[in-house]
Amino acid sequence: MNRVMAVLAGLMCLGSGASLAQSPSLPAQADDYVGYAETGLPAHFRRDAPGGSVVSTDNTPVDNPLSNAGATLGRVLFYDPRLSANDSTSCASCHLQSRAFDDSLVKSIGFDGASTARNSTGLGNARFYAPGHFRWDETANQLEDQVLLPIQDAGEMGLTLPVLVGKLSAEPFYGPLFQNAFGSPQITSDRIAMALSQFVRAMVSYSSKFDQAFAGGGPPDFQGTLNAQEFLGLQLFQPVPGSTVTSLGCAACHGTVAQIASDVHNIGLDAVDTDAGAGNGRFKVQSLRNAAVRAPYMHDGRFNTLAEVVEFYNSGVQANPNLDQRLRAGPGGPPRRLNLTANEKAALVAFLNTLTDERLLTEKMFADPFPLFANGFD
Ligand code: HEC
Ligand code: HEC
Repeated sequence: MNRVMAVLAGLMCLGSGASLAQSPSLPAQADDYVGYAETGLPAHFRRDAPGGSVVSTDNTPVDNPLSNAGATLGRVLFYDPRLSANDSTSCASCHLQSRAFDDSLVKSIGFDGASTARNSTGLGNARFYAPGHFRWDETANQLEDQVLLPIQDAGEMGLTLPVLVGKLSAEPFYGPLFQNAFGSPQITSDRIAMALSQFVRAMVSYSSKFDQAFAGGGPPDFQGTLNAQEFLGLQLFQPVPGSTVTSLGCAACHGTVAQIASDVHNIGLDAVDTDAGAGNGRFKVQSLRNAAVRAPYMHDGRFNTLAEVVEFYNSGVQANPNLDQRLRAGPGGPPRRLNLTANEKAALVAFLNTLTDERLLTEKMFADPFPLFANGFD
């Protein structure tokens, strides 16, 4: 829901003394999240490759498997501004589908206008991160913990869990959704966390131009799929068998065919850390899928364009004492300087653009289920 409209709706309702009482509009037959995110995963996500298979990095816990009814409830919760203290802010206020569930701000804005401490993250392929921890600094041990944090954060959504449960229990449409998902209509914060996590884990990305190279089922046909500039960018990003271009080793950290990290790293954004992150200036990084629509970049949103990010790796890495070895010239050496030509830098950006997945950005099962004003107000 558009935030301005939500605030407006809240005000109109306050005027009549009633609460914002819109019901979601859902398909008669539940959307097939399991088909989209699990049984429908393409073969190249299952296949072993340098960096491992993507599915081997799945952080879904055994006690919260994805179900269509669970993700459907998660979708409603994700878009419901009742999850904030003044009914103005939903998860989608800072995680927009059109931006791969990121927003366009350096710091996001919470329910009462306060800024978040860091740049928001996209959510595509969030389930594919083997350590299973969430947030740039990995403070959330698992997704089920993370999804309850913004709700309780004083600046983001500003509720307590008991108040949240009370608010949702007052809405008649939630009982049947919890019944379908968990077998009884009881609303608990654990169930809210499970449903939100299922919805987020369903946000898998595998329909980019890059993925089309794997469509034949055999070895990927990069040259037949990517144009010459994109193909040069790919070869700079990762080693390609038979290529004469020396890879810059980006895929050593942005690995697998989903361009995901296997761990946290210090990439030398600053010579002296301004934010310790997960310790020693190390940060988690999201799958690079849809990076093109997720500006600004890095945990503090310091870069506005992918070209700026590439220029950073080319010439801007700082001599931080904890700088990752892979970004140094030789063991323990100074920061690596790549000396890329303008052509090579443009090629890297062009390659990153091939990771955009229109399907994730437009798929209806991930869209706002609340029809604005469609049900009127009581
Ligand atoms: C006010 C803006 C805002 C709202 C509202 C918000 N988020 Fe976020 N979200 C952020 C920011 C900022 C971060 C990065 C925080 C950090 O790592 O320090 C983040 C991080 C996350 C992450 C971590 C992703 C990763 O790969 O580590 C998940 C998952 C997430 N949010 C889900 C949600 C859900 C679910 C909701 C609703 C219950 C929600 N967010 C509400 C701004 C917001
Ligand atoms: C040592 C591991 C490592 C290497 C090598 C590496 N990266 Fe990164 N990359 C990271 C980490 C960690 C972050 C997030 C850092 C932060 O926000 O503090 C990141 C961030 C990014 C981002 C922004 C992501 C976002 O969502 O904000 C892009 C784009 C990117 N890297 C591209 C590249 C390219 C292109 C190369 C090769 C030239 C490369 N990376 C090499 C670890 C690495």
